[in-house]
This record gives sequence, C-alpha cells and structure tokens, in this order.
Amino acid sequence: MKILGILGSPRVGGNSDILLDQALAGAKKAGGEVEKIVLSQKKISGCLDCGKCNETGACAIQDDMLEIHKKILEADALIHSVPVYFWAMTAQMKAYLDRWCAFFDAAWRLHKAYRPRMKGKRIGLITVCGDPNVSTADPIVHSFRNTSQVSGLRWLSVVQASASAKGEINKNEEAKKKAFDLGRKSVTG
Ligand SMILES: Cc1cc2nc3c(=O)[nH]c(=O)nc-3n(C[C@H](O)[C@H](O)[C@H](O)COP(=O)(O)O)c2cc1C
Repeated sequence: MKILGILGSPRVGGNSDILLDQALAGAKKAGGEVEKIVLSQKKISGCLDCGKCNETGACAIQDDMLEIHKKILEADALIHSVPVYFWAMTAQMKAYLDRWCAFFDAAWRLHKAYRPRMKGKRIGLITVCGDPNVSTADPIVHSFRNTSQVSGLRWLSVVQASASAKGEINKNEEAKKKAFDLGRKSVTG
C-alpha cells in the first residue's frame, strides 16, 4: 500500500506537518509505504482553465504538478494536511487542488483512463487552525469531501485540531493520536 502525505503549510516542522508525520507514522506501522510531499517546496502554478486537459487528460502546464499527478494516480491513499489561512486553505494547497482539474473532462467526469486508478482510492484530511473552535476549518473539509466524491475516492476521516505557535500541537496528545489512527486506517481501511 502506497500512502502519499501532502503538506499544505509553508511552515515545515509546524503544526500540520507534525500531525502529517504522525499520520504517516501510523501508516508505516500498519505496513504502508509512505512518501511526503511538501507543496511549498514545489513549483505549482494555479490552474489556467486552458481546457487542454479536457481532451487529453494531461495538464499543459509544465511544472512540478505533473509528477504529483502521477504520484496521486499511483497511491492507494492520500492524506492531506493543511492549516487555515483566512478561513480557507493555504494558497499552496489551493493551487495543488485546482490542478486536479486535469483528471476531469469538460463535463466534470473523470477521464476514462483515470477512473479505475481513482475509484476507491482512500483519502483523509488533517486541518489546523489558530481558532480554538476547530470548525473554523469546515470550509476546507467541505472542499476536500466534495472533491473526493466527484473523483470516486473513499473518504476515511478528518482530524481537525487547534494550535497557533509553531510546534504547539505537540502538546495535544489527542490530536496526535487521531492523526496516527487516520494514517493506520489509510492502510487497513
Ligand atoms: C496568513 C495566515 C492566516 C491565518 N488565518 C487564520 C484563520 O483565518 N483562522 C484561524 O483559526 N487561524 C488562522 N491562522 C493561524 C494558523 O492556522 C495556525 O497558526 C496554524 O497552527 C498554522 O499551522 P502550521 O504550523 O501547520 O503552519 C492564520 C495564519 C496565517 C500565517
């Protein structure tokens, strides 16, 4: 089982990174082969809506997302981890997610070639916000849940935690355990 962790925070070693590492540790413990992508270390343009992918299924923008598209298709499970920036996901995560456009045709159906590779792929989400009310991250959850549904993926669960200063989440044993369990579930189902 290949588990792909995708970090949407530019703060490496920060709260969402710590929780993603927990999830990947859980996946590894369950026998998964894990890989982490730090989006802020990649060159990823936003979608240009050029429409070329509607015919070809391939994105026309020559940047690091092309390699990430391949990794998404090859993975058995995807775990995204992202902080809340201004009541939404970070720019890095949004640019990445908009590029999922390449998987779809003009009618927002998955391209035929991708359907068997996306169907049933597991997907989980971790959010971190400074607000003590973790539902501040609900718009991000909404975005990922709908993306997962339209892509034929199998939703695992979401871990929503609160922390502000870099590394503060380390004190939150409950959130770390939930993230670890999410990672384990990404392998065991
Ligand atoms: C540009 C920016 C915008 C933010 N906007 C919000 C927000 O709207 N709501 C919130 O609860 N926290 C907000 N935060 C706080 C972060 O979500 C919080 O510090 C989080 O722990 C950062 O996660 P990280 O360590 O993984 O980067 C914002 C932080 C930054 C830098």
